[in-house]
Amino acid sequence: MAFLFYRNPFYPGLSLVSEVITMELHFEVTYEDAYREVYEMVKPKYKLFTAGPVACFPEVLAIMSVQMFSHRSAEAKAVHVDTLERLRAFLEADKGEIILFPSSGTGFMEAAVRNTVPRGGKVLVTVIGAFGKRFAEVVETNGRKAVILEKEPGKAIKPEELDDALKKNPDVHAVTITYNETSTGVLNPLPELAKVVQEHDKLLFVDAVSAMGGADIKFDDWGIDMIFASSQKAFGVPPGLAVAAVSERVFEIAEKMPERGWYFDLPRYKKFNATKKGVPSTPPLPQVLGLNVVLRIVEKMGGKKEWLGMYRKRSEMIREGVREIGLEILAEPGYESPTITAVVVPEGMRGVDVYNAMRERGFELAKGYGSVAEKTFRIGNMGYMTFEDIEEMLENLREVVEELRRK
Ligand SMILES: Cc1ncc(COP(=O)(O)O)c(C=O)c1O
Repeated sequence: MAFLFYRNPFYPGLSLVSEVITMELHFEVTYEDAYREVYEMVKPKYKLFTAGPVACFPEVLAIMSVQMFSHRSAEAKAVHVDTLERLRAFLEADKGEIILFPSSGTGFMEAAVRNTVPRGGKVLVTVIGAFGKRFAEVVETNGRKAVILEKEPGKAIKPEELDDALKKNPDVHAVTITYNETSTGVLNPLPELAKVVQEHDKLLFVDAVSAMGGADIKFDDWGIDMIFASSQKAFGVPPGLAVAAVSERVFEIAEKMPERGWYFDLPRYKKFNATKKGVPSTPPLPQVLGLNVVLRIVEKMGGKKEWLGMYRKRSEMIREGVREIGLEILAEPGYESPTITAVVVPEGMRGVDVYNAMRERGFELAKGYGSVAEKTFRIGNMGYMTFEDIEEMLENLREVVEELRRK
């Protein structure tokens, strides 16, 4: 038995002690070396402000270290059903089917396309950065056609632009939107865009990989057909699990779609939810446990509003701090992400210089990504962190930028 000491992010200053079951419980001391050797390779050295994977809640890490059990056991079924119900409440998706995929978030891009769009069929892909581009690639590599509506980095898609693109392309089967573009730190105006998609009666697929858990989602009200995310972002759980809410009409179309494959066959997941209270293949049980714990933390914190308020406050602190240092934020005003901030470096400085200098001081930020990689760096605020961590990071950032300016 070992003890894990950590700071509680919600009640800074309060130190908690939690018991975690470690390998020492299960193996002879001889094998502890194996654990130590690997631990030495990866032991935490930095405070994380990454784009994901992000730092996990200690309670999450603790539950993930329990001994494994069968994914068809009564215990696994109970956790599966409970996780679906908690996610349903969090996403306000009474009309949707909640699906857990044993994959990362990209798996749902593939599933969306293969289950609902016939080969050669068109999809309107809105692109405001690198992950919109990925969705287009997924469409194309699956033998479907991507019609692109692209904005320059830092900008969001506006409802009238989407309306115009749909008027020009009435033959598309579906529209994709990146809710939060992780490469530029821009939050698209999803409720307004969803309304436009509804008016054109198209399917709407939303990549909420870095939004879900940090930005509000009202699945039923907004009329979304599929919204998906990965465990390693705003929920603060290790990677390996993807989650989504899926509309009934997706299943109706999918049932008739030929060659939709096996692994990401959505109707198969719906059937397994109902009959087996699990998923068709073996799920990443530790991640499911971790997600369940996080959803309980949300509840104990006071609910979704309080939880999202924490995200808003973290991101506002970061943006304010960055502006005070004299740096520019890439996102256009009014569309700033609540989970990640892309910062533009001044002339003569490279984003990676800031990233490297911060690492030397013990802070892991995120490098710039995609077409803006060179001139930006990013500060994520997802997962486990305290407001004091943010203050400390900003103080160091100020010094780093001053040093780099003098060079
Ligand atoms: C907006 C967005 N979409 C998709 C992805 C891909 O997610 P995953 O790596 O979980 O497949 C990411 C990963 O960073 C992302 O930020």
